[in-house]
Amino acid sequence: MLAIETDALSKDYLVGFWRPRPYRALHDLTLAVEHGDIFGFLGPNGAGKSTAIKLLMQLVFPTSGQARILGQPLGDLAVKRRIGFLPENPSFYDYLSAEELLTYFAGLFGIPAAERAARVASVLDRVGLGAERRSRLRSYSKGMVQRVGIAQALINEPDVVFFDEPMSGLDPIGRREIRQLMLDLRARGTTVFFSSHILSDAEALCSQVAIVAQGRLVATGKVSELLSEDQHGWEVVVDGLPATALPQVGARARACTLVHDGRHLLEFAPGDPAELVRLMTEAGGRIVSLHAQRETLEAFFVRRVAAAAVRGAAEP
Ligand SMILES: Nc1ncnc2c1ncn2[C@@H]1O[C@H](COP(=O)(O)OP(=O)(O)OP(=O)(O)O)[C@@H](O)[C@H]1O
Ligand SMILES: [Mg+2]
Repeated sequence: MLAIETDALSKDYLVGFWRPRPYRALHDLTLAVEHGDIFGFLGPNGAGKSTAIKLLMQLVFPTSGQARILGQPLGDLAVKRRIGFLPENPSFYDYLSAEELLTYFAGLFGIPAAERAARVASVLDRVGLGAERRSRLRSYSKGMVQRVGIAQALINEPDVVFFDEPMSGLDPIGRREIRQLMLDLRARGTTVFFSSHILSDAEALCSQVAIVAQGRLVATGKVSELLSEDQHGWEVVVDGLPATALPQVGARARACTLVHDGRHLLEFAPGDPAELVRLMTEAGGRIVSLHAQRETLEAFFVRRVAAAAVRGAAEP
């Protein structure tokens, strides 16, 4: 069963004060997210990511199209109990401490009073908030508030979580911790849907991604499949290649760089590398590494988003 499905979901906002007119922030978004996946929802600023998440959370309502979470239409109360949500730039009533705030949320979810303290302590541990959990949120840094937001999204031990820009405001260590937390969630069978424009996070975490730009889906699929369409060639590091073999090997390479004494970095065009490897080892070289030069998610993203911008500009 799919965890999240959207079917041609569109949203128009009314913009302009005197003569409001519709502005289409999301066009016919159709997505399918498998159970237990970490799904990355990627796009530049203003692409419609938060709009899509807000539609799924019923904070705004679609102009057309529909969606289902855990097989049920949006609004199903039994499903809502099984969902967690981190809004973009969360802000909370800041006279409370993280502990008090989360105890309140635990109450909203109907967690029995006797279990609340333990549940709150466990989610705060998971997001890495220490003794400061007893201080008022007023004194928190942006990264700490973000962690409280993530803890809030996990208080009901959800089966599906929606994180809108979970890495926002976090330093590199914080990002690594939250990355680990998402992997732990997946290991427990939780489906994680998160939006981001930090592509390295998506590359490290997601099995599936969708890229949106200007409200439209521009690509969707497995990260490995999206990128393998465009294998650029091979990079081989080889030690001890004798000078006599260099002209023959070098003639086949696109580039040949002497890294340091006795070690060369060679770049070859795409194709089967077995023959090149044989050529170098027979000449007396020792292969240190061989890897495919692939387009990064970043390069793919920039290319697709730029193409979408050109198409958008060509439309009436
Ligand atoms: N309440 C609103 N009223 C009018 N326009 C809106 C509203 N909310 C969003 N928009 C517009 O809809 C488009 C999509 O916005 P959205 O917030 O979904 O983008 P996003 O992908 O989340 O961007 P970001 O990466 O900056 O968070 C933008 O052009 C935005 O200006
Ligand atoms: Mg957003």
